[in-house]
Amino acid sequence: MILVTGGTGLVGSHLLFHLLRQGASVKAIHRKNSNIQRVKEVFSFYEENPAALFRQIQWIEADINDIPALELAFEDVTSVYHCAAFISFDPNDFNSLQKINKRGTENIVNLSIARKIRKLCYVSSIGALGKSATGQMINEESEWNDAFSNVYASSKHFAEMEVWRGAQEGLSMVIVNPGVILGPGYWKSGSGLLFQSVARGMRYYFPGGTGFISVGDVVKIMVQLMDSPIKNERFIAVAENLSFKSILEKISHGFNRPAPKIRLKFWQLEFFWRIDWVLKLFISGKRKLTKQGLRSLRYPQVYDNLKVQEALNMEYEPIKACVDYACVKYMEAHSSS
Ligand SMILES: NC(=O)c1ccc[n+]([C@@H]2O[C@H](COP(=O)([O-])OP(=O)(O)OC[C@H]3O[C@@H](n4cnc5c(N)ncnc54)[C@H](OP(=O)(O)O)[C@@H]3O)[C@@H](O)[C@H]2O)c1
Repeated sequence: MILVTGGTGLVGSHLLFHLLRQGASVKAIHRKNSNIQRVKEVFSFYEENPAALFRQIQWIEADINDIPALELAFEDVTSVYHCAAFISFDPNDFNSLQKINKRGTENIVNLSIARKIRKLCYVSSIGALGKSATGQMINEESEWNDAFSNVYASSKHFAEMEVWRGAQEGLSMVIVNPGVILGPGYWKSGSGLLFQSVARGMRYYFPGGTGFISVGDVVKIMVQLMDSPIKNERFIAVAENLSFKSILEKISHGFNRPAPKIRLKFWQLEFFWRIDWVLKLFISGKRKLTKQGLRSLRYPQVYDNLKVQEALNMEYEPIKACVDYACVKYMEAHSSS
């Protein structure tokens, strides 16, 4: 039996679909207020009878910080895919990020060791690899530095440390470090916000760039690594290194809209994060622009994707194709509302 955490999220829902299509027996944890129906919606993108597949999931209510509930979830489990995480770049979320990402992962690792799990797959992030201040290509051996880091990246780095600690204690594991994950269905969070912003009209683009990959490729990499004899290694999952200008142009093309033309200047970005900081003293809500986030845009980050390509003979889905598909799904979802 396979256990999936974060099954109601972008990666987890696509992973559940992939595993069920392979005929695997799958358990997924969800929180009290999780919207598990979203998983069925994701299945409906790829399957004529999504409900039948959805019914095969054994859902267990468990927060990754609730150890007694997790103990029940781990019953009869032989492999674990740990996708659950809190994604926020707001420095005010530091404690929640440490609690969910670091301590939650620590709980998953401890139970995986105690229950002698065959293998754990942890979804980390390119954020956990640190950033290059010189534009030098980052690979799996790059040394972590928190000079240009943000609260999310640092929580993912410390979560990864828990998984490496587990390996020292006898756990077999693989770590996947995806770039920005693109896929349909989650328009109000993560990369979904890129689609939403372009669909609503965007005139400006940020300088800099990063690595991108389709959600389908992330899932493929995870499953193939779990099914292989490979263990105790980490793998960057990036299909293409792109500037933000280029990814926004691709999304604009998918929506048949003009691409943003005006490049934001660094002095403007410095001004904006300060305004955002002041506004949040008076208005509740999440900070959208942070000093670390905006300063990191000065250095386009480039990731080496050769290791996973060679290990799995991987051929990546072109980002253009994945963006076009997500744009179609976005338009379908919004034409009825
Ligand atoms: N999206 C990206 O671009 C990206 C890039 C690189 C790495 N990653 C990593 O990929 C993984 C999956 O990301 P995603 O995009 O699928 O994120 P997502 O759509 O935001 O989903 C997050 C999932 O984690 C669950 N979760 C959060 N806190 C939890 C808790 N305390 N206990 C149990 N479950 C909890 C959420 O459940 P609810 O439904 O209850 O909220 C949801 O299922 C994460 O580890 C993320 O750090 C994502």
